Amino acid sequence: MDNLVNILYIVAFAMFIYGLMGLTGPKTAVRGNWIAAVGMVIAVVATLISIRDTSNWIIIVAGLVVGVALGVPPAKFTKMTAMPQLVAAFNGVGGGTVALIAWAEFLDSDGFSALHEQPSVHIVIGSLFAAIIGSVSFWGSVIAFLKLQETLPGHPIGIGKLQQPLNLLLLLGSIAAAVVIGIGASGEGVSQLWMIGLLVLAGILGLMVVLPIGGADMPVVISLLNALTGLSAAAAGLALNNTAMIVAGMIVGASGTILTNLMAKAMNRSIPAIVAGGFGGGGTAPGASGGEQKQAKATSAADAAIQMAYANQVIVVPGYGMAVAQAQHAVKEMAALLEAKGVEVKYAIHPVAGRMPGHMNVLLAEAEVSYDAMKEMDDINGEFSRTDVALVIGANDVTNPAAREDSSSPIYGMPVLNVDQAKSVIVLKRSMNSGFAGIDNPLFYADTTSMLFGDAKKSVGAVTEELKAL
Ligand code: TAP
Repeated sequence: MDNLVNILYIVAFAMFIYGLMGLTGPKTAVRGNWIAAVGMVIAVVATLISIRDTSNWIIIVAGLVVGVALGVPPAKFTKMTAMPQLVAAFNGVGGGTVALIAWAEFLDSDGFSALHEQPSVHIVIGSLFAAIIGSVSFWGSVIAFLKLQETLPGHPIGIGKLQQPLNLLLLLGSIAAAVVIGIGASGEGVSQLWMIGLLVLAGILGLMVVLPIGGADMPVVISLLNALTGLSAAAAGLALNNTAMIVAGMIVGASGTILTNLMAKAMNRSIPAIVAGGFGGGGTAPGASGGEQKQAKATSAADAAIQMAYANQVIVVPGYGMAVAQAQHAVKEMAALLEAKGVEVKYAIHPVAGRMPGHMNVLLAEAEVSYDAMKEMDDINGEFSRTDVALVIGANDVTNPAAREDSSSPIYGMPVLNVDQAKSVIVLKRSMNSGFAGIDNPLFYADTTSMLFGDAKKSVGAVTEELKAL
């Protein structure tokens, strides 16, 4: 039986890795996801076989039923625009589970003191590491969820200069509690209050680290929390002597770390600067930047259609608003009409446009826009200056030239699409409201920019009708 369990685990690990490889491209992503999911089912079955002598089957089955009942509906029915919140919630649940496992191990072994006779160092250290990181990850994910859900404001919430010393104190406090528990483990064990204290201090640390982080950094934070959850699961796997948890945790930890680095690089931010907080959400009043009251120019669907119909090249710049309006099919229809008129249409994809990595690619692929027409930021940025019309569809922060030009801007340094360099810019959005980072966008007041106000799907539909009439 033990051999069977090990063979099943190896099959599961191979499927995790093969599935991850599938996730590297949109064409293979769905299959990759299925392969990894089947791998996880195999790992769960193998674990159940390995604990076959347990007397807790009722609790285990009840846990599986509750988990499936709570997990499936949100995964099936959550809208694409709310996916980042769902990822934050699932991630938090993972971290919370790991912290609870560590607590259970502590209780089960009388503060680890019952492990004397066994080689117990890895169990004690693994559990304590899992308890701290799992708790940080759970409470940090709760705040990330509430910020993304806009239940909490997206701007940084902090206590200024005292923030960093307080966070350091909380970290040192939880490490000190872990040391006391660790020393107690070689004797009679320690009171349960030490473990509760450790979990509470680490939990407050999770809250305090994520609260001051501004909206624009949330994608990187979720990925970072995801990496932490993976590492804490691997530590819990060490404590439980469960190979599947160690391998799966390390895969999540490693891929989460790589994704965090890639996203931080895409936003030209360092991870320590993100964790130090304060990026995004400066809250400049619309139209008030530079101290003068500026006016944006409104345009009509008919004007937009004429401009684009006579252009050589149009670059479509999709953003979160396109996802909200579900305008991707309408955009594809409009682009087909333009192409029929001999206009070259390309799509400029910013790495953090929308609310999750690859958000725009997924939506456009769903509308059957060809992958070749979707250009990454570095490939398309040089083209804006020789483009007749840049059509911005519900994008805001990712087009903000202040990130390039205004060193006082909260998003200064973040690479953006050079939309302002196009000969003419048409922006489709409903109002002059700011985007996720909560800051004003000078692009909207530029001489070359005109605003087509309204829901993106309706506006694109109206432009399409005008194009048909031309
Ligand atoms: P945003 O800067 O958030 O701007 C979206 C714009 O869409 C808003 O200004 C909004 O203006 C408009 N909009 C909303 N609903 C609309 C509708 N139905 N029709 C037309 N327009 C609509 O989006 P972005 O440029 O894509 O930038 C993404 C932001 O989200 C960045 O700050 C990024 O850091 C952050 N973020 C990204 C991710 C990832 S990984 N992609 C995850 C979390 C956060 P109106 O209200 O005036 O219409």
